[in-house]
Amino acid sequence: MSSTSRFTGKTVVVTGAASGIGRASALAFAGEGAIVYAADIDAAGLAATQAASNGEIRTQITDVTVTEDIRALMDRAAAETGGIEVVFNNAGAGGDRAPIDEIEPAGWDRTMDLLLRSVAFGIRYAVPHMKGRGGAIINTSSVAAIGPGYSPSAYAVAKAGVLHLTKVAAADLARHGIRVTAVQPGFINTSIFTSALGITGQAETQAKAAIAQMSQAAQPVARGGQSDDIAQAVLFLASDAAGFVNGTSLLVDGGLTIGPRHSWDPASPGIFQMLEQFAAPAPS
Ligand code: NAI
Repeated sequence: MSSTSRFTGKTVVVTGAASGIGRASALAFAGEGAIVYAADIDAAGLAATQAASNGEIRTQITDVTVTEDIRALMDRAAAETGGIEVVFNNAGAGGDRAPIDEIEPAGWDRTMDLLLRSVAFGIRYAVPHMKGRGGAIINTSSVAAIGPGYSPSAYAVAKAGVLHLTKVAAADLARHGIRVTAVQPGFINTSIFTSALGITGQAETQAKAAIAQMSQAAQPVARGGQSDDIAQAVLFLASDAAGFVNGTSLLVDGGLTIGPRHSWDPASPGIFQMLEQFAAPAPS
């Protein structure tokens, strides 16, 4: 267990806990004393998350597109521990990759169900077990919520929806003393990219090496973003130290969205660097 234990005795539910950001967060919460309910559709991944912790992690197969699964998850966590203090609505995937002029209704609906409806009902079915306990809900949005270019279109719209949902939920739930915030990860080195393209086996190993290489130079902070970078932000948002933070989101993107690439990367010239070759030499 970690030297700090901000969540001793607290019940924490994490979705998408079999991999990436969800796994790192489940491990970090358990490392700080929480009883963690780790939920996912991936049974083997959940078992690996559980095996990686010395803390208290209880797993539950949960498809976040199935509202009865979400309800059963929240009901179990509360029945076994007396209530819920923290929910991290995080499960997700790339969704339908078609552009807006080609996407089919079923693909649009699947993406919204996975990334937006899941968060709404994660809140809906957790809150009855959170009232009166001073809890916190954190939802995973994305830099993709800021504008195009970071993800497929349907994903971007769903993640923008998560930001707005976070605000309206914060307003609705203030009367119960529950804070609702979002985290917006940048380019984080997880399985989400290879999973989206169905890349497996030897090709997956090669693709992950290429992602690791690319992610080092993708943003002003000169290293790849890791799941634990997001987990640490999520634990802050869930903690008492964030007690005055509500209805807002925290960008954790290594500066990816601060401005155009030429503003921070000397190897990527902007207009003034390009024009220097035409400028008259400065008088000596
Ligand atoms: P990941 O692929 O490592 O983990 C996602 C987990 O969600 C997997 O364990 C997967 O089995 C689970 N999942 C997928 N569909 C599910 C369903 N229907 N029900 C329950 N679980 C389901 O990916 P990562 O990166 O950890 O993704 C976590 C969240 O972070 C997602 O919401 C993603 O959109 C978001 N995000 C990720 C970024 C990145 O660069 N990796 C950037 C911005 C946001």
